Amino acid sequence: MAEPKFAPSILSADFARLGEAVAAVEKAGADWVHVDVMDGHFVPNLTFGPKMVADLRRATRLPLDVHLMIERPEAWVDRYAEAGASYLTVHVEAAADVGATLAAIRARGMKVGLTLNPETAVEAILPHLGALDLALVMSVHPGFGGQSFIAGSLDKVRAIRRALDTHGARAELEVDGGIKPDNARAVVEAGATVLVAGSAIYEDPAGPGAALAKFKRAVRA
Ligand code: DX5
Ligand code: ZN
Repeated sequence: MAEPKFAPSILSADFARLGEAVAAVEKAGADWVHVDVMDGHFVPNLTFGPKMVADLRRATRLPLDVHLMIERPEAWVDRYAEAGASYLTVHVEAAADVGATLAAIRARGMKVGLTLNPETAVEAILPHLGALDLALVMSVHPGFGGQSFIAGSLDKVRAIRRALDTHGARAELEVDGGIKPDNARAVVEAGATVLVAGSAIYEDPAGPGAALAKFKRAVRA
């Protein structure tokens, strides 16, 4: 089993001390920083926009894995490119023309990500796998950190793993929502290559660095 990448989600960090939050996980060996952009329409919560991404871009050397939970994501591709997003992931439910949106992300020099909500069947993203650098399985209903992992998500991870392998596609397979040290290994065994964790990293009383170390031990065990 290959060691996964870890992408701590700053959604659960202290927004007034984000630079420190990112530095702590960078020092502890995080691979990417997961940035949850919410518009209060596609999901019932509101976070931040391109300026936050631009400011984070100056605060860390890690790739910025930007997860857009917004309506009309196609209208925002240029602004996230200018802000310095490394990966830009859009929801298949949100893009008016999914293929054109993915092509626009690629044309602006970012890595291309596509994700789907828990109630959306994997078939919605399968036709696009060849165009992706990242397929993201949402294992909670997007909008809030600290929710429980939806068990059926593992079947989706396995199905996308099979489809990627069948087509020789090398996209990362990321899973987001409810990931803790005690279920991380099962998610990786199902085929994930990148794990997002928010509350389990930033709400651990031991601190984000120690929390990330727990994840690394859990997937090695
Ligand atoms: C949920 C976000 C997640 C969130 C995960 O809408 O997309 O990235 O931060 O948080 P946890 O790990 O607490 O479930
Ligand atoms: Zn996310």
